[in-house]
Amino acid sequence: MTIGLDDVVAAETALSHVDGEAGRLIIAGHDLEELAGRVSFEDVTAMLWEGLVPHAASDPKALLSEARQRAYRYLAPLSPRLAGLTPVEGMRLLLASLPDADEDHPSLAVGAAGIAAAMAVRGAQGLAPVAPDSLLGHAEDTLRMMRDAPVSGDEAKGLDTYLVTVIDHGLNASTFTARVVASTQAGILSSVVAGLCALKGPLHGGAPGPVLDMLDDIGTVDNAEAWLDDAIARGERLMGFGHRIYKVRDPRADVLKTAVGRLKGKSNRIAFAEAVEATALKVLERRKPGRRLDTNVEFYTAVLLDALGVPRDGFTPLFAAGRAAGWVAHAIEQTRTGRIIRPQSRYVGAWPAQAA
Ligand code: ACO
Repeated sequence: MTIGLDDVVAAETALSHVDGEAGRLIIAGHDLEELAGRVSFEDVTAMLWEGLVPHAASDPKALLSEARQRAYRYLAPLSPRLAGLTPVEGMRLLLASLPDADEDHPSLAVGAAGIAAAMAVRGAQGLAPVAPDSLLGHAEDTLRMMRDAPVSGDEAKGLDTYLVTVIDHGLNASTFTARVVASTQAGILSSVVAGLCALKGPLHGGAPGPVLDMLDDIGTVDNAEAWLDDAIARGERLMGFGHRIYKVRDPRADVLKTAVGRLKGKSNRIAFAEAVEATALKVLERRKPGRRLDTNVEFYTAVLLDALGVPRDGFTPLFAAGRAAGWVAHAIEQTRTGRIIRPQSRYVGAWPAQAA
């Protein structure tokens, strides 16, 4: 029996495949590198939803744009309730309030995830929500609504690349959670809320700041080698390095690094982060020989979202905004099996005393 389900195959999926040994992520039949930064979030969503959501491919940009408008009508009145909540708590509140009675759950869930991420970040700062713009793409509009400021082409491309990069990733904890809820026939919106609840934990998507905290602590390029060396000598982990499944480079780190490169003029932290990465790889090679430790998705996610002006506590909501499209696809795929996910546990508690 495997405790924790490591190595257990719990579902068959045509959505994505993670090959950790080869450093490969396949999404809807394509390598991530063919999609991120090349195909829009809306179009990759349509590719994932093909055969699962009727008409998803006919005009995906219009579908999500219309869904943002509809979601805003449901969610904007809830803005006063966001005061005092962190952005991820606010996003949970907003998504949980969507009505099962809405006629189009798949697109509503994804449109609402963009609206909720933007609203929840603003709400945590005591700011009023910004309405969606039907002419913009999903990434550009989400960032514009979050910042209430125009978004440049490179910035829109940066967030679009990020949303595609995180759209799906095998049977990770939140996707599995979404499938378990879907398997009870609870519905797509409940599956997406459940996915967010699993994602918000610090062991999954809920620890947004550590990479930036590390960069802040290191402070200067000259200090990097000594800082990193001392941290490893103390037995600490370098944030944004290593991965349980990818035993070579995390392909998501590569595509995000390319997106970050386009934003160099926006943030001094980018060149600094690149210098720290190069030094860290040298230090890890020396201190942990043969471990194959490399940059993971968290490293360039932090640098990219920071350069886009997203506050640290907004990183997890944006992760959820991208992953929502994957959760929806998995929920439908699972629902179609008609089978509830119901594993076993091994009882290790006390047994009732034998009757005399
Ligand atoms: N910095 C320094 N050493 C590391 C790091 C790191 N980031 N990651 C692993 N190691 C070392 C371990 O100390 C260990 O060395 P040892 O054999 O001398 O004891 C060896 O590499 C193997 O460590 P494991 O814990 O077996 O590696 P595992 O694959 O289980 O860990 C994990 C993966 C948890 C991601 C780890 O690399 C880590 O803690 N990284 C830092 C935190 C981080 O970046 N998290 C985000 C991951 S991306 C994501 O989850 C979406």
